[in-house]
This record gives sequence, structure tokens and C-alpha cells, in this order.
Amino acid sequence: MQIITRNPNQTIKLGMAISGLLQKGDILALFGNLGSGKTTLVKGIAKGLRVKSRIVNSPSFVLLKEYGGRLPLYHFDFYRIEKPEETYGIGLEEFLFGKGVCVIEWADRIRRLLPKQYLRLNLKFLDKDRRKISMNGFGRRYKELVKKYENTRI
Ligand SMILES: Nc1ncnc2c1ncn2[C@@H]1O[C@H](COP(=O)(O)OP(=O)(O)OP(=O)(O)O)[C@@H](O)[C@H]1O
Ligand SMILES: [Mg+2]
Repeated sequence: MQIITRNPNQTIKLGMAISGLLQKGDILALFGNLGSGKTTLVKGIAKGLRVKSRIVNSPSFVLLKEYGGRLPLYHFDFYRIEKPEETYGIGLEEFLFGKGVCVIEWADRIRRLLPKQYLRLNLKFLDKDRRKISMNGFGRRYKELVKKYENTRI
């Protein structure tokens, strides 16, 4: 599944569409360079889950934010992490297998801590306003999710 968004609002809408099928315990790993739209996508997911999007700013200095909505959203940004060990203090596992949805920016920084099953989202900067966003499911739950997302229109 792959989609090209032509402005930030379309990326937000894609995030909202993605949020619709999310369940407790789901893990979304976001890969993509600086400015590729990861936080914008999370804003859409947050909006779709009805968490207060106002407080979802790019948390480059923050490892974790937790918000209440249809489901809790655990939003991680590991940009500043050099080694996965640096996250040991935050109890990542409790969130990964917790009561909400985990969304991880810069998931490549903690790749070996990711469970076997997760939804992988790759974001690519094409030009000033266009981003290519592709989705891959690892494990049965996420393969099925990707199938359901195939027909997403934004
Ligand atoms: N189609 C688009 N989708 C998302 N963002 C877009 C798009 N077109 C332009 N932009 C702009 O690109 C920037 C994306 O920033 P955003 O913080 O979402 O990226 P990021 O991947 O989270 O970066 P970082 O790695 O620094 O956290 C924003 O300024 C946004 O307005
Ligand atoms: Mg970001």
C-alpha cells in the first residue's frame, strides 16, 4: 500500500483514516528523514483517535507523550537516541504491550527493540509538498490491516 500526499492536510487525513482501524496494543513504526511528515501523520492519527491534537507538537526533545482519546496514544520520538539502551528507563515494553496505540518516530533508532509484529510506515520526501507514504505489515494482524487500508482514499 502506497500513497502520495500533496500537502500536510492530506497527510493528516491519511493519519485519520489509519486511526479508524487501530486497536489496543497496535504498534506503528515510522521511518523517514527529517521533515518527511512523521509528526504530521501522528497529528492525523491523534485527531482520528480524538486526542487533543493541540498538544501533539514535534516532540524532538521528548521520548514519550501520552494522550487520552478513543484509545490512549503513546507517541515516541527517538531522533535523539543513539543506542537502543538509552530507552531502557522508560519502560518501553509496558507501552508496546499496553492499553493504547504506540506510534514511534525514528523507529530505526530502536529497531532491535521492536517486536516481530508491527505496522511499518515509510515516509519519503519527494518535493516541497509531496510525500510518499508506504505501509508494510509484519505479522498477521498487520498484514490484514494493510489489506484493509488498500482502498483508503483521502
Ligand atoms: N504532503 C505533506 N505531508 C506532510 N508534511 C508536509 C507535506 N507537504 C509539506 N509538509 C511540511 O513538511 C513538514 C513535515 O514536518 P514533520 O514535523 O511532520 O516531519 P517529521 O518527519 O516529523 O520530521 P522530524 O524528523 O524532524 O520529526 C511540515 O513543515 C509540513 O508542513
Ligand atoms: Mg517529527
